[in-house]
Amino acid sequence: RVADEVSIYEVSPRDGLQNESAMIPIEGKRRLIAALVGAGLRRIEITSFVSPKWVPQLADAEELARTLPAERGVTFSALCPNARGLERALAVGLREIAVFLSASEAHNRANINKSIDDTLSVFSEIVPPAREAGLAVRAYVSTVWGCPYEGDVDPARVVRIAERLIDLGCYQVSLGDTIGVGTPRQTHDIVRRFLDAMPPERFALHLHDTRGTALANILVGLELGVRDFDASVAGVGGCPYAPGAAGNMATEDLVFMLHGMGVRTGVDLDKVIEAGNVAEQVIGRPLPGKVHRAGPFR
Ligand code: HMG
Ligand code: MG
Repeated sequence: RVADEVSIYEVSPRDGLQNESAMIPIEGKRRLIAALVGAGLRRIEITSFVSPKWVPQLADAEELARTLPAERGVTFSALCPNARGLERALAVGLREIAVFLSASEAHNRANINKSIDDTLSVFSEIVPPAREAGLAVRAYVSTVWGCPYEGDVDPARVVRIAERLIDLGCYQVSLGDTIGVGTPRQTHDIVRRFLDAMPPERFALHLHDTRGTALANILVGLELGVRDFDASVAGVGGCPYAPGAAGNMATEDLVFMLHGMGVRTGVDLDKVIEAGNVAEQVIGRPLPGKVHRAGPFR
């Protein structure tokens, strides 16, 4: 067996919904999150404390976070770009936040309107106080496999950024294939470089499945020792500031493959398929996940 167990970090309520132009009622978001919890997902990114002008869909972040019932053993997290975001997360009593930036200047500028260095300075002012306040802090580095504006990205540069985030107190850096252009040999190279720099629990793979290579890239990571993968039920989502972006690795497809390989996830496949159906109802159009469309095998 390639691994005993992996941890799935579910991003559909945040990464999945942030790109939807029609406003989704808060009740639908609550239903989706409840279905994900019911399926056994234990780490769920529920929203973002970003500017509502930049991401109108998540303007209900406070109300959503405040009104979710606490679930034993479940961690709800939210994106947080700056001090204002941290203040908002603390005010609603969230226990985990995720800071985020890109490995390429142009995407970082398009997404959070700053240079990479200025973003890291902002994070150096919010991560330590967040840790002191008892929060766990995760981090994302986007455009690791390629940037929609700049093309190729130097993996050595990504490792340096990730090391700074870990030094600041982030417990894990999630590496984003934001526009889904990664292929297996490239993933092998990126993961090897990370394993040379840090233990596997310090990083995760966050792969958008835009061109159908997410599962192949995850398999490469799994075989090299990565045990943390981000996923989005029914493959919903995409970054609004990355043209052409599609959803993250579909949670059902990942669970189907892992269980078939004898790897535990703690997730119930039938129930996560149910959660995908809830996502489809809430969003109101067909979603692309493969297992979502085909169903389980037996
Ligand atoms: P800015 O315009 O440069 O910032 O935006 P600003 O400080 O000048 O603030 C502008 C306005 O926003 C002000 O309000 C601030 O108060 C307000 P105004 O005076 O105009 O009324 N503001 C805030 N409001 C609420 N919460 C806050 C906040 N901060 C400022 N935290 C900013 C800079 C970072 C705020 C903006 O660019 C932003 O919100 N960007 C977020 C974009 C985003 O969420 N993108 C998608 C998530 S990233 C992603 O999907 C990739 C990932 O999945 C990994 C991968 O796939 O690779 C994570
Ligand atoms: Mg993403």
